[in-house]
Amino acid sequence: MVWLKETDSTQDLLKRGDFPHGTVVVADVQKRGKGRKGRRWESQEGGLYFSFVLSAKNFKEIMQIPLVAGLSVSEALDSFRLSTSLKWPNDVYLKGRKVSGVLVERTGDKVVVGIGVNVNQTEFPEGIKDTAVSLKQVLRRDLNRVDVLTAILGRLQDNLSLFSEEGFPPFRERIEKRLLFKGEEVVILSEKPEAGILLGIDEEGFLLLQTAEGVKRITAGEVSLRPSL
Ligand code: ATP
Ligand code: BTN
Repeated sequence: MVWLKETDSTQDLLKRGDFPHGTVVVADVQKRGKGRKGRRWESQEGGLYFSFVLSAKNFKEIMQIPLVAGLSVSEALDSFRLSTSLKWPNDVYLKGRKVSGVLVERTGDKVVVGIGVNVNQTEFPEGIKDTAVSLKQVLRRDLNRVDVLTAILGRLQDNLSLFSEEGFPPFRERIEKRLLFKGEEVVILSEKPEAGILLGIDEEGFLLLQTAEGVKRITAGEVSLRPSL
């Protein structure tokens, strides 16, 4: 494990070099933190930003890794008495706002998993002021980021081992229990937007949507989930 004061993005750092399975890089600040679809991940002082390397050979499937990683973050936060939800496919929500995001990228045999958690920030940049939240804003005290990281890595270790041995089935129910908007009306934004009731997820981690034309399975790819207005 390497802990840096600053880098462009822990994700890009691990993608550039030749690092073995299990390498973890943490940074206090990222100058070019990235989210999905080339979006920006705000990475000011106070948050926890880390990425790690997995070898794709250890997994039959990697498509569900964002869900398993998000579940691991959510379970780790339980130990701080924080009740979080999973916004399919890659976000963790606390009190209706985004507290953590997961980004999974593959280059050849290497899978790089990046996780950002808002821990001790007391304010956020203009664009995300009303949608982001930190653990400190809810708990009203500073948390030790090493404790938060240790709890998350512990859950990741257990969950990713189980995922590599048994695949996604053991996770379906555990994730569904924490699913944001379950039973509610949502809109799936993609080339062809779909509206419906979010029923849950299936054995492969696809989202199940009850639409006027029947139940549809939605793949994570380039879609975004929003509550219906
Ligand atoms: P979706 O995943 O449903 O497309 P999203 O808006 O969460 O929606 P992502 O690409 O997953 O999109 O995440 C990146 C977005 O997260 C950014 O566009 C920004 O709105 C938001 N964001 C950036 N930095 C932070 C942060 N530190 N905390 C919370 N939210 C952030
Ligand atoms: C998202 O919500 O779209 C995913 C956000 C992922 C952010 C983390 S912070 C550590 C790692 N380095 C990055 O540049 N991004 C990920």
